[in-house]
Amino acid sequence: MGSEKNIKRAIKILISAKQIQKRVAELGKEITEYYKNKVSEKRPLVIIIVQKGASIFGADLVRKIRLSLDLRFIRVVSYGGKTMPQSDPEIFDKIKSGIENDHVLVVEDILDTGKTLAFIKSYLNNLQPMSLNFAVLLIKKMKRMAKIPRVRFKAFTISNKFVVGYGLDYNEIYRNLPYVGVIENYSPR
Ligand code: IMP
Ligand code: MG
Repeated sequence: MGSEKNIKRAIKILISAKQIQKRVAELGKEITEYYKNKVSEKRPLVIIIVQKGASIFGADLVRKIRLSLDLRFIRVVSYGGKTMPQSDPEIFDKIKSGIENDHVLVVEDILDTGKTLAFIKSYLNNLQPMSLNFAVLLIKKMKRMAKIPRVRFKAFTISNKFVVGYGLDYNEIYRNLPYVGVIENYSPR
């Protein structure tokens, strides 16, 4: 495991911490605007943060949303294109109490093939929310493998590179970097 010095050497910054914070604040405003007449203290906006990747983005984003929120978490394991390209995402830590008739916003880290979002959409639609939208930090420009749900709130679009930081990992490391970067010498799958 590398020291902070090693980390700095190995990662090329793609989106700086400052750029991220600026965009997250804008997104928080957009979300506030979009839901302000739809939710109330009696009927808060249900925000579902997808663990672990969206934990950092989600934590920052919710603090920029000026609405009554009910914060939830789900954990989805995607084997997306890596060791088991054919396997479907699996869901852990399911939603415990009902979201029927609630406005629901799912916060996810990255849209790659789209398999994970498509899976989350069908899982949550079965719970019959009033509405279901997605806020995603990074949209990768690539050919999608799955029929993907529309992403209403997007922070950044990036090229098809493997990125780490701001919640995203490589073998569970690098999630704590305040920026999004590319591991130098990493060859994409
Ligand atoms: P999808 O199902 O192919 O869209 O994959 C989405 C999931 O794969 C994300 O939630 C991430 O956990 C992971 N993922 C995809 N691309 C990257 C990346 O560039 N860096 C880190 N994780 C990634
Ligand atoms: Mg993920």
